Amino acid sequence: MARKKIALIGGGQIGGTLALLAGLKELGDVVIFDIAEGLPQGKALDLAETSPVEGYNAALSGANDYKGIKGADVVIVTAGVPRKPGMSRDDLLGINLKVMAQVGEGIAKYAPNAFVICITNPLDAMVWALRQFSGLPHNKVVGMAGVLDSARFRYFLAEEFKVSVEDVTAFVLGGHGDTMVPLPRYSTVAGIPLPDLVKMGWTTKEKLDQIIQRTRDGGAEIVSLLKTGSAFYAPAASGIQMAEAYLKDQKRVLPCAAYLDGEYGQKDIYVGVPVVIGEGGVERIVEIELNAAEKKAFQKSVDSVVGLIDACKKIDPSVA
Ligand code: APR
Repeated sequence: MARKKIALIGGGQIGGTLALLAGLKELGDVVIFDIAEGLPQGKALDLAETSPVEGYNAALSGANDYKGIKGADVVIVTAGVPRKPGMSRDDLLGINLKVMAQVGEGIAKYAPNAFVICITNPLDAMVWALRQFSGLPHNKVVGMAGVLDSARFRYFLAEEFKVSVEDVTAFVLGGHGDTMVPLPRYSTVAGIPLPDLVKMGWTTKEKLDQIIQRTRDGGAEIVSLLKTGSAFYAPAASGIQMAEAYLKDQKRVLPCAAYLDGEYGQKDIYVGVPVVIGEGGVERIVEIELNAAEKKAFQKSVDSVVGLIDACKKIDPSVA
C-alpha cells in the first residue's frame, strides 16, 4: 500500500515542526510548500537527514509550486504572518486573508479530496475564509485551536495538582482568543470534575480562575517570552494529533474549530466545539448542554468570531 501524503502549506516554525512530527510518527510522505524559494527544500532536506538517525521511513520534499501538493490526503495550513508588535488585528486579518485566497485555490486545484487543517491566525476567521475560497465540503475543513488550548489548560492543571498530564482532561469551547471558554465542570482529573476538586480542597476557586485566565492568555505568554515569534511546538503537536485521527480513522473526540450549521444555535460560522474526527473528516459535532453562564460566554466568543468574519467580507467581498 502506498504511503499517505501530507502537504504542509507554510514551512516556517510550525511547518517545520509538523514535518518532523509527521516523519517521526510515520504518518506518510511529507511535502512542504512555501512561497520563500529554497526554504521548503532546505527544511525538507535537513529533516530527511534526521530519518536515518531516528529510524523512520518517509520521503520529505519541498515545493514552491502548488503542483507539489497534488493528491495530498491531508493538508495542514500555517502559511501567513504571525502578529508583530505595532500590528493591528485588522492588518493581520487583511494579510492572511489574501494568503488564504491563494492557498484555497491551490488546494481546490490539486488536493480537493484532502482533509484540511488550518492553523493560521486569526484562526476561526481564517478557517472560515479558507473553506470559502477552497469550496471543499465543510466536514473536510477544520481549524486547530481547541486541542492546543485544552493542552495548555491540562498542563497548568497537572502542575497545580502535581499529577500526570495524562490523567487530566480539559474542555474548551469557543473561538481561539481572549474570549475562549474553558469549562471547569467538564474538565477532570481521572474523571473527577474541577468543581469537585475545589470542594475536596485540592485547589481554590481563585487559583482555578487564575489558571483559566492563563489558559486564555497562553499564546500571548509565549509571544512575550520569545519576542520574535509565536508558539510552534505545541501548535504543531496539536495539528498532528488531528491529522493522525483522520488518517488512522481513530474517531477521536477533539475540540476543533468546526463549521456550525444550526448546532449550538449558530449558523455559517467556524468556532471551537468538540467533534469526532475519523476517516469522514468531521464525522459528528458533539452538542453539549450549556448552563446560562456558559451560554453567555460562548455567545460572546461567537460574536467576536462573527466580527472577524464580517471584517473578512468587507476586505474581500468575493469571500462572502
Ligand atoms: N503561501 C505560502 N506560504 C506563505 C505565504 C503564502 N502566500 N505567505 C507566507 N508564507 C510562509 C512564510 O514564508 C513562512 O515560511 O508562511 C510561513 C509562516 O511561518 P512563520 O512566520 O515561522 O510562522 P509560524 O510560527 O509557523 O506561524 C504560522 O500559524 O499560529 C499561526 O499565528 C500563527 O498565523 C501564524 C501561522
